[in-house]
Order: sequence, then C-alpha cells, then structure tokens
Amino acid sequence: MKYKHIVVVKRGPPENLRIEECDLRDPVAKEVRVKVLACSVCQPDIQNRYGLSPFAPEVPYEPGCAIVGVVDAVGPGAVRAIPGRKIATYPACGGYAEYVYIPESRLVAVPPSLDPIKTAPVVLNYLTAYQALHRRAKVKAGNKVLVIGASGGCGTAFLDLGRLAGLKMYGLASGSKSSILTQFGAIPIDYRKEDFVKAMRRAEPDGLDFIFDGMGGDYINRALPLLRRGGVLVEYGNPLGFGRLVRRVAKVLLLNFLPNGRRIKIYGAGLVLLYRKPFLEDWAILFRLLEEGKIRPVVSGEFPLLEGAQANAMLENGQVVGNLVLVAPELLR
Ligand SMILES: NC(=O)c1ccc[n+]([C@@H]2O[C@H](COP(=O)([O-])OP(=O)(O)OC[C@H]3O[C@@H](n4cnc5c(N)ncnc54)[C@H](OP(=O)(O)O)[C@@H]3O)[C@@H](O)[C@H]2O)c1
Repeated sequence: MKYKHIVVVKRGPPENLRIEECDLRDPVAKEVRVKVLACSVCQPDIQNRYGLSPFAPEVPYEPGCAIVGVVDAVGPGAVRAIPGRKIATYPACGGYAEYVYIPESRLVAVPPSLDPIKTAPVVLNYLTAYQALHRRAKVKAGNKVLVIGASGGCGTAFLDLGRLAGLKMYGLASGSKSSILTQFGAIPIDYRKEDFVKAMRRAEPDGLDFIFDGMGGDYINRALPLLRRGGVLVEYGNPLGFGRLVRRVAKVLLLNFLPNGRRIKIYGAGLVLLYRKPFLEDWAILFRLLEEGKIRPVVSGEFPLLEGAQANAMLENGQVVGNLVLVAPELLR
C-alpha cells in the first residue's frame, strides 16, 4: 500500500513543496505510525524551507512540525502507544502527509474529545505563548504587557492566554487585523501607521511590565526602554541565520549586563529535546483549557493535508490572522 506526503525538494518558494508517494511500511522498533488528522502550518516551516533558520533540516525533507493524529500501528517495543488513541507530537517532521512515523517517546496524549483542527495550533503556538508568559515571564493579573506580532499564530495565542491571565494587553498589528486584537481585549497599535514607541509612552508613561517579541531581535533597541525598571522582554522569534543568532545572543548578554534595570530573556520550544517534563505538564494544562472552552485558537484557514504549498504561500504573504491548519479529508468542513 502507498501513501502521499509532501517533500521540500529544494530551498526557496512554496513551489518547492512537492507531493510524493511512498510505501506504507510497518513501524520499526519503538516507532509508531500515526495517521495525520491535522497539522499546523507554522512560520518555522517557512523559515526552514528558505534555509533561514540556523537549525533548518537538510533538503530533501518532509515539513510539518506540529501534528495531531491517531496511532495507526505500533512497532516492536513501543509499549505505551495504543492503536486508535489520539496523540500530538512536536518537534517532528513530516506532518504534511497522510501518515508519519514517529519515535514513541515523542508522543503526547490528546484527550479524545478534542477537535484536532483546534488542537493543532496548541501544539506549538500556544505552547510557546504559555511558556513565555508563565515560565519565562511569570506574569500576574493586572500586569501591563505589549505583544509584538500580535495578529499571528503565536501572537493570538499570547492574547488568548493573556486574557485568561487577566493582563492589560497592547498589541502591534497591521490596522486591517486590529479587530482580532480587540476581540481578545487587547488595545491595538497599528505599527505601520504610527510610531509605537510614542503611542506606548503616551498610554503607559510609567512603563510596561513585560514585552513579548516574536520579530527576532529587530525590535529590542526600541522596545526595551518601554519597560519599567524590573521589567522583562521575552524574545521568542527565531533568528534568521546563524550570524544573527550569534549577534542576538551577544546583544542580549551585553544588555543584560548593563545596569538599566531591565532584562531580556530568550525562549525556544526546541528545549523540549533536552528537557521534556515542563513541556508535558504545559501541554496537559493547555489541552484541559481547550476542553473546558477557556481558550479559543483562531483558525482562519483549513486546507487539505496535501495542499501545504497553497497554505505556505498564504502564510508567507502575510495575509493570515491566527493560524492555518492542514486537515485530513474526513475532517474537512
Ligand atoms: N521560540 C519558539 O519556540 C517559537 C515557536 C513558534 C514560533 N516562533 C517564531 O515566532 C515568530 C512568529 O511566529 P508566528 O507563528 O506568530 O508567525 P505568523 O503567524 O506569521 O505571525 C507573525 C505576525 O507578525 C506580524 N509582522 C510581520 N512583520 C512585522 C514587523 N516588522 N513588525 C511587527 N509585526 C510584524 C504579521 O502581522 P501584521 O500584518 O499584523 O503585521 C504576522 O501576522 C517567528 O519567527 C517564528 O519562527 C518561535
């Protein structure tokens, strides 16, 4: 039997995503075959395809890192995975596919009642926002925060979780996308039309408690002075290139060394590869919040699993509010 998956055949635009067919084999030792139900189309997928991320896989590779699926077959020694159970996995490759093979150790249980399409953005984008808010920043109700990149996949997760945590939120977004910010109770600032530094100083002359920046360091110089003394900027945007990564780390070390009363912290979900326990705890919390209807991931587009190229083109054109999700045929609405 055969199945279809998408392969990045060379670096560059979405046309380099090709549908290929391969054999549906049995899983090897400690491996699980997963039938993909939904896979988030994330900004890191695009950065990897262009080779911008310092950690981009070598081509050819199968994209799709934040996956929700169902255990389809279990290899020898994979003792905890039960066929038919709903699971999520990150980081992984190959989610733009009908099936994917994953080491059993990378699976996370998903409550059966959860909608895979709404769960897919939780796997990476909500996890990033939750850990930045609660593990790096340790926010408290009433804190004043600014979210940079507020209309995107991670940005809307920050707003949703920030609303739940009782934060006073400001967000930078294009004017055309401002309504999603107000829906989550945030005050939008159209950074394309007005100087956000002046707007923030007017709104919060005593300074902000926290800033969450997904733009990869370009905002640090302008944003840092907007914090009150003791305030923290959490930088979670991926650096685009190895040189930028090194420069960013050097800059953060230098700025944190200066006696300006403000700190920068870096967040990366890739730490899951080294230190899994807090990730498992936080996914469990997020899945419970989703089950209880306390969080509402914004999914503005659903595409068939093998239409990853179309979804990638849309995301990289900057047209998307919230998240895009690739969806198995039986779940397409
Ligand atoms: N650290 C981690 O583990 C981790 C996890 C997930 C994602 N990330 C990274 O986080 C970043 C954001 O990811 P995402 O999934 O939220 O991306 P996204 O869904 O594409 O959203 C990014 C948003 O940023 C806004 N934007 C673009 N250029 C901007 C600029 N110059 N100034 C301010 N806003 C701008 C755009 O909205 P407007 O049209 O409103 O400007 C866009 O919607 C990416 O670098 C991604 O790789 C990191």
